[in-house]
Amino acid sequence: MNNRRSFIKKAGSLAGALSVTPILNALAIPHIQEAEKIIQDLTPAEAARNEEYWHTIQQAYTVSPNIINLNNGGVSPQPSVVQDAVERYNRLSNEGPSYFMWRILDAGRESLRMKLADLAGCSLEEIAINRNATEALGTVILGLNLKKGDEVVLTKQDYPNMLQAWKQREMREGIKLNFINLELPIENEETIVQQFTQAFTPRTKVVMITHMINWTGQILPVKKIATAAKAKGIEVLVDGAHTFAHLDYKIPDLDCDYYGTSLHKWLSAPIGSGMLYVKKDKIKSLWPLFPNNNPQADDIRKFEVLGTRSFPIEQAIGQAVNFQHAIGNKRKEERLRYLKNYWAEKVESMPRVKLNTSLKPAYSCALANFSIEGMEPGEIESTLFSKYKIHTSPIVWENIKGVRVAPHVYTPLKDLDRLVDAITYLAKK
Ligand SMILES: Cc1ncc(COP(=O)(O)O)c(C=O)c1O
Repeated sequence: MNNRRSFIKKAGSLAGALSVTPILNALAIPHIQEAEKIIQDLTPAEAARNEEYWHTIQQAYTVSPNIINLNNGGVSPQPSVVQDAVERYNRLSNEGPSYFMWRILDAGRESLRMKLADLAGCSLEEIAINRNATEALGTVILGLNLKKGDEVVLTKQDYPNMLQAWKQREMREGIKLNFINLELPIENEETIVQQFTQAFTPRTKVVMITHMINWTGQILPVKKIATAAKAKGIEVLVDGAHTFAHLDYKIPDLDCDYYGTSLHKWLSAPIGSGMLYVKKDKIKSLWPLFPNNNPQADDIRKFEVLGTRSFPIEQAIGQAVNFQHAIGNKRKEERLRYLKNYWAEKVESMPRVKLNTSLKPAYSCALANFSIEGMEPGEIESTLFSKYKIHTSPIVWENIKGVRVAPHVYTPLKDLDRLVDAITYLAKK
């Protein structure tokens, strides 16, 4: 580790210049900075409605003109400034992979860690960079010290990869999983908190909270649940896959011990990038998924032993963070919520149409789910695509049935008008 650190110091300045340029490249940022003049005196909520400004943001992406992609919940496209960086670093890597990857780009990881920590609002000693939320959260789920009979509280509406990891521990080690079943949407924070606290027992050691439920976009009051858990000595793991760079918050605001997210969703970072946060005093006792030579160290870097990974993808995260800053967290959140409300308010009172997502700001943002009486989600989704070339995600999971719609900052209002036309057609069918 020491040798590595001294090398990093030497290589740091070169890598910093090459890989995490502080100024966004010519294609995107000067335009965005110029466009900002249009909205600089507006509140984020007012700026969210300024189509002239958002038109500039739309131009920064290279999305297909032939389909309307309203499934940004799964994975998002990258603005061209990020795509260009991936290509640039890839070409550089191919000039001499082991030299340019391990001696140049690898050293850029420390400045990237600093950037991500700044965006997340925590110490850089609490951020590990990896490939996705599955890896980040799996590290925690499989790495916590738990023994037979210890209990974990989670919900049936959490993401399958996380549930599967917990179930493996149940099978292998005899821990006990206490599932909550949420009837979504819920518009009362206390009701949600109560469901969690009622599931706590004296043997509960961990609670997992999905900040935004991916199936419907429901936001859970993480901080309140965490406070109740902490009062009973229960550790808190947050799945932030859908809220990082989507909602305007800092990780410490959630009062959690562990947090994982993908960066290829709402941050628009390269596909296959993610991040793990572990509170400083919890690092030592959490076992890494792929150990280094000191798996009980309190160095967050012990979670980054991934073997050979894509350095171009990792390093281009820096450009995505710059792009995020150019828009601004709060402005982005307001725009995403505005886009959701734009279509959802137009369809909510249509006969046969049901929104499975609350439109109150505390409970949703960009993601929403709707259903049409008498139609299966798969049928709605396939008609949306075949007739309107609108790509969405059909959801059938536990007690949830509907179609998920997820616009992103590059989505123009006319695409949402098309969605409204399509839902109008389907509801009349
Ligand atoms: C709530 C939630 N958690 C975790 C994940 C896993 O993300 P990834 O596939 O990027 O690892 C997803 C993916 O959609 C998700 O929705």
